[in-house]
Amino acid sequence: MVSSPALSSLREATRTLHVDLESRLALGRPDAGRAEYRAYAAAMIGWLEPLEARLWAAPWPDGVAPEARRDKARWLVEDLAALGVDAAQVARLPRATALPPLATEAERFGVAYVIEGSQLGGHVLARRLAGALAPHEVRYLRGYGEALGERWRALLGAMAASVTGGGALARAADAAVATFEGLGRWFEAREVLR
Ligand code: HEM
Repeated sequence: MVSSPALSSLREATRTLHVDLESRLALGRPDAGRAEYRAYAAAMIGWLEPLEARLWAAPWPDGVAPEARRDKARWLVEDLAALGVDAAQVARLPRATALPPLATEAERFGVAYVIEGSQLGGHVLARRLAGALAPHEVRYLRGYGEALGERWRALLGAMAASVTGGGALARAADAAVATFEGLGRWFEAREVLR
């Protein structure tokens, strides 16, 4: 684990938001299966696709490797196809227009913390849902696979070096909070919460 003032401040700012979202998602129920994953993937793509395109197209310090991180919406498309949602239907799904702040590097790290951190929970969920979704694999939740830990540490390392000083810490934390809150509102409108 790469601890830093930035990571501590992001965790502190978003802890209750994560607990709240996780506990309200139908996908987190012990009996969740194909229907819950299909609804989750359909909602997530509309939020993630426009956000990841802008986030990872922005400048990043060395070590972050944005090109390895910017295609998670494509994994969601694969999962939806396996569950019977074709490309034309995916194209018609609504896309979010209200995005969290991305203007400064500190804000971008705050947003990236949420998106990349969600892969940690995804890893846990992928194992939990594997049986219910077989024979289809959950590509989005499997995410980076074996590379997950290394990629998470690389992001945290770059963040520790970049996000320093009170102003930057506050901007990163505010952006992470806005990311969780925006996703919560997006999910609320899409019946993926209990
Ligand atoms: C039912 C859904 C979810 C479950 C069960 C879940 C579960 C988890 C678990 C177990 C971890 C810790 C993993 C570890 O330390 O290795 C984690 C971390 C995290 N999750 Fe979730 N999660 C869910 C949804 C989400 C969503 C939708 C987001 C945001 C888009 C999110 C953002 C994060 C972040 C940012 C972390 C990293 C926290 C840190 O280490 O500082 N999670 N999640």
